[in-house]
Amino acid sequence: MIRFEHVTKRYADGTTAVDDLSFEVAEGELVTLVGPSGCGKTTTMMMVNRLVEPTSGRVLVDGEDISGVDPVALRRKIGYVIQQVGLFPHRTVLDNTATVPALLGWKKAAARARAAELLDLVGLDPATYGSRYPAQLSGGQRQRVGVARALAADPPVLLMDEPFGAVDPVVRERLQNEFLALQATVRKTVLLVTHDIEEAVRMGDRMAVYGQGRIEQFDAPATVLGSPATPYVADFVGSDRGLKRLAVTPVTEADLDPVPLEKPGGTDGAPDPVPLGTSLKDALAALLQHDTGRLTVTGDDGRPVGVLTPEGVHRALRRATVE
Ligand SMILES: Nc1ncnc2c1ncn2[C@@H]1O[C@H](COP(=O)(O)OP(=O)(O)O)[C@@H](O)[C@H]1O
Ligand SMILES: [Mg+2]
Repeated sequence: MIRFEHVTKRYADGTTAVDDLSFEVAEGELVTLVGPSGCGKTTTMMMVNRLVEPTSGRVLVDGEDISGVDPVALRRKIGYVIQQVGLFPHRTVLDNTATVPALLGWKKAAARARAAELLDLVGLDPATYGSRYPAQLSGGQRQRVGVARALAADPPVLLMDEPFGAVDPVVRERLQNEFLALQATVRKTVLLVTHDIEEAVRMGDRMAVYGQGRIEQFDAPATVLGSPATPYVADFVGSDRGLKRLAVTPVTEADLDPVPLEKPGGTDGAPDPVPLGTSLKDALAALLQHDTGRLTVTGDDGRPVGVLTPEGVHRALRRATVE
């Protein structure tokens, strides 16, 4: 869906922001670009909607070399969410959200109906918030309006540059989870820029770890954490990468021990069962809250398929490393 072929960007002052970059984002995939400030993430993203032109190489969207596509037409297909949000201060939330449909020439009523639908989708009741002005919202609510506005014209591609960077950590995590739930239904092709490794791991189907102007590793988060490709990546993801990996490694049947025969009255202090697919992090948290040292895991039909023990967690992590 988005494809970079040997793309280099040198700015007029001689700065090489991006150096011979090649990667691909599949349709419906969310790829995070993560790395320290100044490593070329924003430059990469802005070459997708032609706010920045490559010095050499090609960028393709939907199989088409975008250097030949009218930028305005291109941007209609691409939603853009930035940290500063950029809402119009003198327009209501509803009208802000309806901006792109209105630009596309939709009838006013249709554009507003669409905007109301999108506000609802991002968790803002249009009856309550639609008539407010941006200054009358919290930072998190403004960010939700930014996402609603980017999605309003239903573009297949979404570019998000540090979209949750301006809010406090608690709100950030909530916005991240809301966006993931939304993405599960809308399935856009998403490039998300962040300097926050936790965000890159949590949000990405795959993640591109940037060094200076180059991608050092492009893989699923569990792989990046489990098998960093270079010492730079290992350093960037942090010495606690084993712990971080717990959040992106699901419990599978291979990690479980057989369900023990029930001891009479033996369920005292046992944690509630969790389904297969629960993250090891959540499973371990449940294990640590109770003394039994094992956690019942259930299958699709809700029946126990085995128990997870601390040894099982260890095995699961080893499996994630070897893969
Ligand atoms: N318009 C510009 N002119 C010159 N240099 C730029 C311009 N925009 C960005 N840069 C430089 O390009 C490099 C990459 O910047 P950027 O893509 O914004 O990085 P990131 O988003 O990863 O922080 C940095 O060294 C930055 O200073
Ligand atoms: Mg940037």
